[in-house]
Amino acid sequence: MMREKIELYAKRLKLSWIREHYHEIEADNNHDYLLKLFEREVQNREERKVNLLLNQAQLPKTGNQPFQWENIQIPQGINRDTILQGEFIHEKENLILYGNVGTGKTYLATLISLNAIHRFGSKVKFFTLASLANKLIEANQKGSLSRLIKQIEKLDLLVLDELGYIPLHKEGAELLFQVISMCYENKSLVITTNLQFGQWNHVFGDPILTEAVIDRLIHHSHLLVFSGESHRYKASLLQQ
Ligand SMILES: Nc1ncnc2c1ncn2[C@@H]1O[C@H](COP(=O)(O)OP(=O)(O)O)[C@@H](O)[C@H]1O
Ligand SMILES: [Mg+2]
Repeated sequence: MMREKIELYAKRLKLSWIREHYHEIEADNNHDYLLKLFEREVQNREERKVNLLLNQAQLPKTGNQPFQWENIQIPQGINRDTILQGEFIHEKENLILYGNVGTGKTYLATLISLNAIHRFGSKVKFFTLASLANKLIEANQKGSLSRLIKQIEKLDLLVLDELGYIPLHKEGAELLFQVISMCYENKSLVITTNLQFGQWNHVFGDPILTEAVIDRLIHHSHLLVFSGESHRYKASLLQQ
């Protein structure tokens, strides 16, 4: 009877850890008991929040080898630590990660995302450029575009991976421009690309639109140049 009441109250107060586990706590006195209860409830909530954010972010799987910075050129005003700690996210600035395949662009974008989620509880979403374009087109056709845009609007960090492998359809390019404009001075973008700006019109298809995209992006951006050899290539050589 008492147990049922406790569980009922815990439920009404949305204390879900406490509701299930309060009887497992051992304590010396009332204060100690309450302290332990609250600590575990808070801890559990934070874990659940991080898990939710990780699920929503849809980050690619990564290994856990340390990130190698040797062949990455970092501009002034930013450094390895502030990049990894996501300081640019608080400033609503962007990162553009440019370089050849296998040099760690996606890996770095993923590490930044993981840190932002774990340290600050940031809302992050990872897309390839092509997959976001497709999603936008699909949403537009289904009449759910504004809902999708609102979801993106709530993010702290939007990662657009692989700008450059696949040319976009006209509609996709225009919708992406809308998204990038919305992000301007509002939230951070991390974009990875193997193309110099001069070649971005191959992706966006239209020089005026491309210029507008680049204009929105570079105003508050840091350009990191990845100039090393492909780690993928190195890894496959090692396996042979
Ligand atoms: N700078 C780096 N430091 C550590 N590992 C790296 C680095 N660059 C690449 N790798 C390894 O190679 C894999 C492929 O790199 P990736 O980030 O996908 O390259 P890119 O996106 O530039 O094509 C990564 O998952 C990682 O295991
Ligand atoms: Mg990549």
